[in-house]
Amino acid sequence: YGDPSQKIDYVFKVVLIGDSAVGKSQILSRFARNEFSLDSKATIGVEFQTRTLVIQHKSVKAQIWDTAGQERYRAVTSAYYRGAVGAMLVYDITKRPTFDHIPRWLEELRAHADKNIVIILIGNKTDLENQRAVPTEDAKEFAQKEGLFFLETSALEATNVEEAFSTVLAEIF
Ligand code: GTP
Ligand code: MG
Repeated sequence: YGDPSQKIDYVFKVVLIGDSAVGKSQILSRFARNEFSLDSKATIGVEFQTRTLVIQHKSVKAQIWDTAGQERYRAVTSAYYRGAVGAMLVYDITKRPTFDHIPRWLEELRAHADKNIVIILIGNKTDLENQRAVPTEDAKEFAQKEGLFFLETSALEATNVEEAFSTVLAEIF
């Protein structure tokens, strides 16, 4: 997970957004520390974690910001998005409303973030396939229409988490 003594060529700020309990904090924890917790607490305010990776022989420090999905725990929106070059828009494949709210999150993102921000739509919790409420095709179609990258992940099983971050970071790069 990166040698801390290495020199950093770039720092990229990426923000996580989406409804409460979709798994944003656990996706981040899987990416930054390769850890996962089933009794993750709702995020209050803003937290961030970093991980340094090598992309095309340059060391890139990914600074990933995570905030509360719950309105009452959210921090100042403009500060959260300031300087972000990537965004991960997360829903839970077992909870249809979390997907139905994606257009609202996208609206907020487009209102506050840089217009060139790289956005990936993420359907999390694919380990719960038997409880799926959002067909992959629906999300794929939405992502295509809105010009977003799209992947389904499982923070629990560590499926596609690495890929989701590398997709965004490589595109920023
Ligand atoms: P807020 O901080 O309130 O916005 O929520 P969040 O989006 O950060 O959700 P969090 O990461 O705290 O996860 C919510 C719950 O879903 C926790 O119980 C997690 O363990 C669980 N969870 C997260 N990712 C997965 C996953 O991929 N699969 C399964 N089965 N559970 C997951
Ligand atoms: Mg959280």
